[in-house]
Amino acid sequence: MKPIPLILDCDPGHDDALAIILAAHNPALRLIGITTVSGNGGIKKVTLNARRVATLANLNLPIAEGSGKSILGAVEEATDIHGESALDGAELPEAKIELSELHAVDLIAKLLKESTEKVTIVATGPLTNVALFLKMYPQLKENVREIVFMGGSATRGNRTPYAEFNIWMDPEAADVVLRSGLPLTMCGLDVTHQALVTPEIFARLEKMGTQVSRTIIGLLKFFAKTYDEVFEIPDPPLHDPVAVALLIDRSVVRTKKVNVQVELIGSLTRGATVVDLHNRLGEQANCEVALELDFELFWKMMLEAIEKSAATK
Ligand code: BDR
Ligand code: CA
Repeated sequence: MKPIPLILDCDPGHDDALAIILAAHNPALRLIGITTVSGNGGIKKVTLNARRVATLANLNLPIAEGSGKSILGAVEEATDIHGESALDGAELPEAKIELSELHAVDLIAKLLKESTEKVTIVATGPLTNVALFLKMYPQLKENVREIVFMGGSATRGNRTPYAEFNIWMDPEAADVVLRSGLPLTMCGLDVTHQALVTPEIFARLEKMGTQVSRTIIGLLKFFAKTYDEVFEIPDPPLHDPVAVALLIDRSVVRTKKVNVQVELIGSLTRGATVVDLHNRLGEQANCEVALELDFELFWKMMLEAIEKSAATK
């Protein structure tokens, strides 16, 4: 099987960092670019984090900075979960990868134009860059194979009672993506809350004993602490890598194709994804929604990727 060309649009972020590591050296994937969007931290912070994590993963690829605010101009950070730097808990290497001069949206367009195959976009932050790309380069839509995004939920939220953080940060952008007509896969909280970093996973990381595994343990310990403080979940959910894992092996998740819309108006529910699991609205299905995770397979892939990262030094 030919590797899938992939652009990762992210806001690192602890789980985004692990998504980069998972996408970095898997033979099923060809990571051709990383773009950043503000979310877990301001745009400068998350861009620096992306460059440092890509350096840790020994990557050599274009990285471009994207939108620093939502389509309607909102800015917010998730310091309660990810800390002041948006990636607290470990010393990361100095960034060796230069920042592209292009805006993220233009880098996505350039990479799509240059690719001889259709490209998959994985978004693990707010969907601002992806929506802007679809609006600014409608002629390139046909070069997109699929958009896989971490965001939303078929049940409750985490940023508000009903809105998940990435969708809450830019509901209008999510709306553009959900109406795009492109093949979409949503990895919401339903499935990512099954990707828990359990004590047994920490033990397997400890056993690895590499510089990369030690850095990741530091990051995940911080993430576990904040998740416990904020949500009373001591084994934190490693959301973003699930969106990458399913491209490596679709059987890692069970999905259902249904209609998904985003609440833009609700006074208490803005940013909630309305996932019509039983087609009560009679609308056309527009999105594969991941609902169940194969925990063992997911962690097999993730731990192998961490091991490989160390070996590629
Ligand atoms: C999402 O929000 C961010 O804090 C995480 O990186 C993840 O993308 C989970 O709701
Ligand atoms: Ca993220």
